[in-house]
Amino acid sequence: WGKQGHIIVCKITEKYLSEKAAAAVQELLPESAGGELSAVCPWADTVRFRYRWSRPLHYANTPQLCNFKFSRDCHNSRHQQGMCVVGAINNYTDQLYSYGDSKSSYNLTESLMFLAHFVGDVHQPLHVGFEEDEGGNTIHVHWYRRKENLHHVWDNSIIETTMKDFYNRSLDTMVEALKMNLTDGWSDDISHWENCANKKATCANDYAIESIHLSCNYAYKDVEQNITLGGQYSIYHNPVMNIITISHFGLRMITIGNSASWNTDDYFFSRYPIVEQRLAQAGIRLALILNQIFGEDKANA
Ligand code: ADE
Ligand code: ZN
Ligand code: ZN
Repeated sequence: WGKQGHIIVCKITEKYLSEKAAAAVQELLPESAGGELSAVCPWADTVRFRYRWSRPLHYANTPQLCNFKFSRDCHNSRHQQGMCVVGAINNYTDQLYSYGDSKSSYNLTESLMFLAHFVGDVHQPLHVGFEEDEGGNTIHVHWYRRKENLHHVWDNSIIETTMKDFYNRSLDTMVEALKMNLTDGWSDDISHWENCANKKATCANDYAIESIHLSCNYAYKDVEQNITLGGQYSIYHNPVMNIITISHFGLRMITIGNSASWNTDDYFFSRYPIVEQRLAQAGIRLALILNQIFGEDKANA
């Protein structure tokens, strides 16, 4: 996800932390976070260059297949095992279990900031995508008036358009709406999200499997190079000149009179619910992991 996606995920997590986990998180957060986990959740994207080894830890790719296999797909370009988003979640989870050991040699502040980021990323469907197109990065598309790539649409554009159309451009309003959905519409799903089928590997492995399925069924579905995923086409008939003009622009409006227009918003309207659900799932599951590490005592979940 982009910056906003990571902040949304972690604002949801904050609400579901146990008292013990919230206290441990407070102790580990850097001064600059101002006591808010969400402030540091985008951090890992800012150290991609300083820590070059961390770049492949944001994602995992498959050889054009709609399933994820850790042994086949979790590696960096030098084929070092575990160097992908699933391996990173497992690794930073393990490191954080040493919290409280005076002998721990890890920088647990960084472990927490990486873990919070990567649990978000593994829920972005295209962070478990196809190697060939780099998770949609090489697929060029039009999003309303902008040229984007498919990966960026899922990291940022769908969230931005959702915020603009439904939540008054406010991130906090979107977070409140997702929290309400969690206590209401999704409340029956939460226990299902918290339980992973494949306990032998880890839950992160299951989150990656969900993501590649969503990539195939939603993100890549019906997409081809240079397609327009959001926008509007209009046909105007000018009766005086007797000419027809075809235009393409980003405002959503219905025109009458000598023109007809139709929206090409199908992609947005069928995909934004997936994005909202993945952000909420990531938030809930990050809280679950942190509560397991630092101790349960469900405060307000
Ligand atoms: N670079 C290569 N593959 C990627 C992916 N699936 N997500 C993000 N960045 C990538
Ligand atoms: Zn991304
Ligand atoms: Zn990332």
